Amino acid sequence: MSASVRQSAVLAARLARRAIACNEPRTRKAVAGDNMVKPTDGGSGDGKVTPPVSIRPLDILVPAEIDRYTIGRRIGSGTCGVVHQALDNLLGREVAVKLSPIGEAHVSSGKVPGAQRAYQTEIIAAGRLTHPNIVTVYDAGQYEELNYLVMEVVEGKSLKEYGKGKTLLPVHEALRVIAECCAALDYSHKQGILHRDIKPANIMLANNGVVKLLDFGIAVGLKEDGELKRKGPTLGTPNYMSPEQILGQELGPESDFYSLSTVLFELLTGRQLFKASKVKDLFRLVVHRTAPQLRQIRPDLPAELSEVLAKSLQKKPEARYQTGQELAHALQPFIEKFGLATRRPAAWKKLVSRLKRQSFFLSFSDGEISQLLSKVRVRSFKRGDTLVAAGNSQRCLLILTDGIAQVRYHNKFVRVLADGACFGEARFINGISESHSLRALTDVKALELSADALSDLPPKIHLHYYRYISDLLETKASIATAAQVDISL
Ligand SMILES: Nc1ncnc2c1ncn2[C@@H]1O[C@H](COP(=O)(O)OP(=O)(O)O)[C@@H](O)[C@H]1O
Ligand SMILES: [Mg+2]
Repeated sequence: MSASVRQSAVLAARLARRAIACNEPRTRKAVAGDNMVKPTDGGSGDGKVTPPVSIRPLDILVPAEIDRYTIGRRIGSGTCGVVHQALDNLLGREVAVKLSPIGEAHVSSGKVPGAQRAYQTEIIAAGRLTHPNIVTVYDAGQYEELNYLVMEVVEGKSLKEYGKGKTLLPVHEALRVIAECCAALDYSHKQGILHRDIKPANIMLANNGVVKLLDFGIAVGLKEDGELKRKGPTLGTPNYMSPEQILGQELGPESDFYSLSTVLFELLTGRQLFKASKVKDLFRLVVHRTAPQLRQIRPDLPAELSEVLAKSLQKKPEARYQTGQELAHALQPFIEKFGLATRRPAAWKKLVSRLKRQSFFLSFSDGEISQLLSKVRVRSFKRGDTLVAAGNSQRCLLILTDGIAQVRYHNKFVRVLADGACFGEARFINGISESHSLRALTDVKALELSADALSDLPPKIHLHYYRYISDLLETKASIATAAQVDISL
């Protein structure tokens, strides 16, 4: 970024002449928790939850030209600034320009507290962060009465358009977006920056599917580093603030992941995690009330996903996932499962008809295969990977759907398994530890069904399943007997 932060003269008359009036009609009713607030005690850390001072939306006049940028239509607004599409006349490309008023004069009017500080913080963050899931800042400067920040323009929508009261994203898409934010936040934390304002309006989903994290305006340092303070004033957006953030305590990466999990809850349910008409009541709920279970609102979603969310919304930071990688990892199986089911209905149908021809599924109907698939974890392995190690005692059955694998016993080849074959029947039924191992001879795709997941399925499916397994065990037993006879001869 060429941070050409430049002080120019305040030419009010010129500004007025060339200004585009951009005051938005104020039709929206205020709802507790949607806008950024600053608790009045500034976060004493004494555990008290105090009423916040709310901040009114920003009204500023935007010039038609700012330095080398021709300003176009408004594409967004937030607590500190308005964002316009613009043309960079030098490089001949579309950009997004975020504008906020210079200086603390505006702060004293009560309109945009901290706008100047937010601008400076965003510049510091921009200098340190280069990541595919974080919006790129190209330039920054000051023009007349305004600070401006020039960014790549994200063609798409913020997650606000998919949250509370809006059409929900498909489950796998909501989970994917959150997993990408996990990667962006892990990166930012590694650079020593805590975002502190993770909420739907600060995450954009581009039309091409790319996820971009925005707005590092109230970021703080994860350690004292000369540029960013370790602890800024207690700011945030109540609906998405972590309990420790509300209490003004020292924050770690878990605080950002708590906020991110409140966004996930909203994306999956269409509701905010807690509701209250007054912000101070909302604060009390966030700090003291256990988060509602995802399963109560979306009984169609797996209990295991509800458990992931419950863990990530624990009140105590140490009880949550500690990194984005951990949270993303916990979400990954659900992304694969729901992605397969909903994103590619044609591919799903093809898979069902292919599976029907495989020995395991011969007695299953299409609907039963679909039901079974909704409970499995889809796994991919590379050639040479160990699919199952000897000694494994998880009650899981692996059904190969693509590729070839090799069964081994004490490091010696036993047999080859191909499409439709199963591995781990005895372990699945009895939970006894695996004596053989399974290694991929080619790239392999397999479905993993746990005994727990099977218990959620209708009895008819259990019957098919156990019939197949008992036939298989019987065949294996007769082979073993024959082998014994051979040996004794
Ligand atoms: N680079 C961008 N491309 C497209 N839209 C953007 C971009 N940056 C911000 N926006 C839109 O503007 C809104 C406000 O931007 P943000 O940086 O969050 O401002 P604030 O600091 O005032 O909250 C966002 O919610 C988003 O809708
Ligand atoms: Mg914002």
